[in-house]
Amino acid sequence: MKNAIYPGSFDPVTYGHLDIIRRAAAIFDELIISVLNNVRKTPLFSVEERVRILENATKDIPNVRVESFSGLLVDYAMRRDVHVIVRGLRAITDFEYELQNAQTNRLLSKGELDTMFFTTSLEYAYLSSTTVREIASFGGDISGCVPDFVEELIYNKFGIHK
Ligand code: PNS
Repeated sequence: MKNAIYPGSFDPVTYGHLDIIRRAAAIFDELIISVLNNVRKTPLFSVEERVRILENATKDIPNVRVESFSGLLVDYAMRRDVHVIVRGLRAITDFEYELQNAQTNRLLSKGELDTMFFTTSLEYAYLSSTTVREIASFGGDISGCVPDFVEELIYNKFGIHK
């Protein structure tokens, strides 16, 4: 069985992430979406909330599973016996960071963990979770960025009722 891990913060999940998830799930037998539990960051949504949101947003894709992890991605992937990481590339600005991570993961795993990059669909190339949080915090329109139920949850976090 060919499986892969799509790791990330997903705080919140955007249409850009969902586009990558759909395309990767069409290629792999199983895609594990893995939410990083990063103790160094204060997220908008807790890890449990992000897992539930992702489960809801992907409930129509049967070969997708959502989990969380902490620590090194390479250790988590090896524990799961998964050898492919999926990541999205929006623009050249993503490339240096992603290349460094991919090379480091290959090195740490002694060649056992490869990274496959999906180029983000052009309509989502400008999208990031950071931008979505920023727009929403000022009550701006994020309807083109995230699914409706996520939009409502984000505004609730900022105490905005539309
Ligand atoms: O959505 P993000 O925040 O861009 O995802 C980044 C992520 C989770 C893929 C990356 O930070 C990660 O893999 N963190 C786990 C810790 C780790 O393994 N770091 C070394 C990678 S070189």
